[in-house]
Amino acid sequence: MSAYQLTESIFSVGALNPSLRIFDVVMRTEFGTTYNSYILRGEKTALIETCHASYFDRYVENILEVTRLEDIDYIVLNHCEPDHSGALKRLLDLCPNAIVCVSQAGSIYLKQIANRADLPILVAKDGQEIDLGGKTLKWIAAPFLHWPDSMFSWCPEEKALFTCDFFGAHYCEPYVLDVNMERPDFYDRALKEYFDAIFGPFLPYVRAGLAKIAPLDPVMALTSHGPVLTKAGKLDFVKEQYVKWSESQERANPLVPVFYCSAYGNTGVIACAIGEGIRSVLPNADVPVIDINDHDSAETGAMLNQSKAFCIGSPTINADAVPPIWILLSHVDAINNKKKPVFVFGSYGWSGEAVPNLTARCAGLKMAPFGEGLRIQFVPTEEDLKSARDAGAAFAAALG
Ligand code: FEO
Repeated sequence: MSAYQLTESIFSVGALNPSLRIFDVVMRTEFGTTYNSYILRGEKTALIETCHASYFDRYVENILEVTRLEDIDYIVLNHCEPDHSGALKRLLDLCPNAIVCVSQAGSIYLKQIANRADLPILVAKDGQEIDLGGKTLKWIAAPFLHWPDSMFSWCPEEKALFTCDFFGAHYCEPYVLDVNMERPDFYDRALKEYFDAIFGPFLPYVRAGLAKIAPLDPVMALTSHGPVLTKAGKLDFVKEQYVKWSESQERANPLVPVFYCSAYGNTGVIACAIGEGIRSVLPNADVPVIDINDHDSAETGAMLNQSKAFCIGSPTINADAVPPIWILLSHVDAINNKKKPVFVFGSYGWSGEAVPNLTARCAGLKMAPFGEGLRIQFVPTEEDLKSARDAGAAFAAALG
């Protein structure tokens, strides 16, 4: 992609990565991505965001279509994740007059990312402005959207908001503007997947970010990934989606799922008894008992993350819990599940390591395992099942 002029003063100079299929190890990117970067030109010149280190040469070619590197006065990093800061270290060698603008938290991270002690840094405070000569850049703190150091950059003369990852999408077409997209249906999918993966753990911060943006009423949102959003295109739609997706989802009845895997049905029988015990204390609770092998792990993971508390059970095979249970726990949103009550259980034959291993994992995720869990050897007796019902009831009673 070459540089693309968006307005008289704003240019897109980022790079395309249409073939990317996995981002940050964990996120599928069916439609590739873009590493967006922009030049805002007044009498002085600001470069907003840099680029993934792998695209350095192409990226610099794009910048050179708009400006000489020695004429860049500011490099603004709205957050410091390496997909946007990776090119910084080499770029600074070519931009002798550039000052790097980052938030206070970003200034700390950046020293470890660029590994340069002599970084020319301007700490961008919330509400602070710099005058580019005819254009202004104002910084707006946007913590946890999605890094602690995230901020927005706002140019009032252009009514242009540089949104960092906010409103972004891993979506790549050879066009910069949303109005030129050929597959808006694919884009809509990418937008939701991006929101869930990047902002799902930070919904209160999303609401706060939307509130900060509302009075600005930008005509253009210059995202760090995906198309530039415009009033004529997707901007209002994306804002509406963010409002909808970030709404508080308080449930009328508490959700307390009982997840399990079962090799010979024994852990499954224990799961049902625990569920009965929970319902005996919390008759209004929603207590689905779920064999996770019958469900998609993303679906059960989402249920786990929405729950008030949950139970998780596994047989012991080869001295450990079985892989589907570990996969389910890999979906735990560790930020929003701190102190979530969890009850661990399972049938075993010889040694029964699954329950202590799962308990340790849940504690490591900062959740709150209930006691030492429940282990039952081989086939549960009626007495064992009464113990399971009692354990479920005690767990439910502790939920308050
Ligand atoms: Fe696109 Fe949080 O980096």
